[in-house]
Amino acid sequence: MREKCVKKHAARKSAGFAFVVAIILGGGCGSASAQGSAPGPFAPDQVDAGRKGFAENCAECHGKDLSGGTAPVLAGPEFVGRWKEKNTAELYKFIQTTMPMCQGGVLGNRAYADIVAFVLWANGAQPGPDDFDGKAQASISAIASGTVRPDLSKTR
Ligand code: HEC
Repeated sequence: MREKCVKKHAARKSAGFAFVVAIILGGGCGSASAQGSAPGPFAPDQVDAGRKGFAENCAECHGKDLSGGTAPVLAGPEFVGRWKEKNTAELYKFIQTTMPMCQGGVLGNRAYADIVAFVLWANGAQPGPDDFDGKAQASISAIASGTVRPDLSKTR
């Protein structure tokens, strides 16, 4: 991951590559509808805070509605297909250490946790009673259906 930051102008190319990989990994799995029933390990207010954090720090490349841009799409069956074998702590760790691209760690842990909560919610995960601190290891396929929330594009 780290070496990608040496050549920043290559970001667009690697985004395209990740997209192709996502299709290959996500292809052939037709069971997404059976997934995503358990509540996520994050609280409803984290979703609101994360929406704001995402708009400020991530939307520039990933799109305000997570539909992608210069960077891969972060909501929908492709994204969940790519992360379905992983858990929420792994998603947090990836984002916290690598995003915003080449500036991993610039945000506080709480801000990253809120953004992860928002991304999970955007993928159909339900908030629950627990506050997400980046450590809870819920299976992404168990909480996120990959059904994109219809009101995402209305967010600032
Ligand atoms: C400057 C542009 C840029 C910004 C800002 C940015 N990203 Fe990214 N992001 C990328 C690129 C490019 C990739 C693809 C990286 C690769 O291929 O390794 C990526 C990949 C990702 C992935 C993996 C996607 C997948 O399909 O597995 C996640 C998750 C992610 N970013 C989350 C975030 C979050 C959350 C933020 C805000 C904190 C953020 N990004 C900010 C450019 C950006």
